Amino acid sequence: MKYYLTTPIYYTNAAPHIGHAYTTIAADTIKRMKRMQGYDVVLTTGTDEHGQKIERAALAAGKTPQAYTDVIAEEFQRQWQILGLSVDRFQRTTSKSHAAVVQDLFRRCVERGHVYKGHYSGQYCVFDELYVNDAKPGDPCPECGRPTETVTEENYFFRLSSFRERLLALYDAQPDFILPETRRNEVLSFLKQGLQDLSISRTTIKWGIAVPEEQNHVFYVWFDALSTYMSAVAGEKIHGENLWPADLHLIGKEIVRFHAIYWPAFLMAADLPLPKRIFAHGWLLFENDKMSKSRGNIVRATPIHKVLGTDALRYFLMREVVFGQDGSFSYDALVGRYNSDLANGLGNLASRTLAMINQYREGKIPSSDGDQQIAHTMTECTALALEAFERFDFSKALEVIWLMIGVVDKYIVERAPWKLAKAGEDQSKLLDETLYTAAEALRIITALLIPVIPESAAKIWSQLGCKHSTDDVRIAELNWGHCRAGQALGSVIGVFPRADAKAAIEKMKALEDEELARQQALLGKTKAPEAKAAADGSSQITIDDFSKVDLRVGVVKDAAPIKGADKLLHLHVDIGEEQPRSIVAGIAVSYKPEELIGRKVVIVANLAPRKLRGVESQGMIVAASREGDIPVLASFLEDVPIGARLK
Ligand code: MSP
Repeated sequence: MKYYLTTPIYYTNAAPHIGHAYTTIAADTIKRMKRMQGYDVVLTTGTDEHGQKIERAALAAGKTPQAYTDVIAEEFQRQWQILGLSVDRFQRTTSKSHAAVVQDLFRRCVERGHVYKGHYSGQYCVFDELYVNDAKPGDPCPECGRPTETVTEENYFFRLSSFRERLLALYDAQPDFILPETRRNEVLSFLKQGLQDLSISRTTIKWGIAVPEEQNHVFYVWFDALSTYMSAVAGEKIHGENLWPADLHLIGKEIVRFHAIYWPAFLMAADLPLPKRIFAHGWLLFENDKMSKSRGNIVRATPIHKVLGTDALRYFLMREVVFGQDGSFSYDALVGRYNSDLANGLGNLASRTLAMINQYREGKIPSSDGDQQIAHTMTECTALALEAFERFDFSKALEVIWLMIGVVDKYIVERAPWKLAKAGEDQSKLLDETLYTAAEALRIITALLIPVIPESAAKIWSQLGCKHSTDDVRIAELNWGHCRAGQALGSVIGVFPRADAKAAIEKMKALEDEELARQQALLGKTKAPEAKAAADGSSQITIDDFSKVDLRVGVVKDAAPIKGADKLLHLHVDIGEEQPRSIVAGIAVSYKPEELIGRKVVIVANLAPRKLRGVESQGMIVAASREGDIPVLASFLEDVPIGARLK
């Protein structure tokens, strides 16, 4: 049976980092797990190379979009090779085979009456490549908080509004279509607000796939990008079974809407089979902070691979972060887990077990059925771990596997084989049983770990004298009793040498700097597009225009996050009026609510009030953008009274 899973296709506006590696590693882990279950698994990934965001990034780097994306697409492929990820297809949206699939999807939607020509006049967020239908000029994007841009153009529209009921029926019939539950609820509440038709072509940009029989329409980048999941395996079958539909789309939580609403609606419209499941994981943060270029806290995977090995990173990500929730990366935690769980835990169990078999039984697995109590515990724990893997609850599965390691460690200490060996012939049978039990338990533990730490598991596997490749291990081999009597161990070498934390971290940080410099040289220096627009003087205003804007100094009285909107904060700002103003600001990526209380800020006080995420905003807070569109609040060096007007 086939199992087809995908990662998102990553934008080629920036080089790969640990966040992209997180999804792709998780996908690779699932692939290996499904392979163990006997599926013929295909994993695809790729790059999302069209659209306004990439067009601008290329322009800022002084390159053509094609030249720019060629470099970054190659970086992504190189990254997956370095990390040894078992990707079957790498699909680029600039490939010919892909364009044909996008155009075909469009034709099918047109033929079935789900597309019409119209005009879009409204706001657009280039960062998220998202139409923000209910926003007004100057409003921040509800997803990322960056300013939206006004777009007025002729488009093809997709009748998304008419798919609301069918989508609800889909989620109802398949409650696990969107996982985890929190994301499903988010989508349901989004649908409850109703759906508007969606523009699926653009006429004011050129960098995209041409709409058939049109002069100047290119496809909206999400219509193009989502189709990759089909184009990557177009027409392919495994043992007579079509690869499409996908069994799983693995994505980050910020792109759920595109996958759970737009994508199934496009497919329904085209009369094509729907993917079976969407799993949206959480965000990987750096020391609990969002990773961003301007904060200089983006972590890349290659330095970690070079210093501790890819398995250290894989283990850390799958163990430390509860899949589906946000989690934090730090070098300290990485090295800490490496030393405690891998070097001291698994590594130690492997080396002591194998060393004792070498010492007391000349490197051959003794004949025994093993301790039945331990056999029972291993069987029970294996079932629990497999069940957790099946739910993609990797951290739980690993917790159970480390519990198994603890059980075997304790058993070895209690049996004290070194004493049994001294007791000679009398205790020989018990020593056989003890060594067999430790080896067999280690074999099962190692087999369970193949999906998560494939390289290290393969090493322990062959040290145990197991001859077949770990790629060929199947679930049935997790049963007790597969170690053969007389099985000769391979040569035993420590798999996880202990790391000197300070030296390892310094080395990773130094390599990180080198990697950053290498990537920057590849991409060329970037210039902020806003700076260019201001410099050419194309948008001058008069003093009268300016005086229409009522800018006031205020002080933040309180601040709180807004549920379901990662980028937004809800503030109350006192500008000397009877009541403080309620203001929604897209500044959560830069400021924690508690940092803002008592801070003086500048607000646009005469902006018409409007609702964002159900909260009324009676003005706008003034901020500049650093590289990467990270907001920085306008402030004063000297003290200024509350309510003072800026002119
Ligand atoms: N091109 C779109 C996806 C199109 S899929 C048809 C896109 N690209 S992206 O480059 O921004 O990649 C986003 C994805 O990368 C996330 O959904 C997630 O899978 C992964 N991540 C990037 N940074 C991440 C973190 N810091 N943490 C977790 N995942 C991250 O969106």
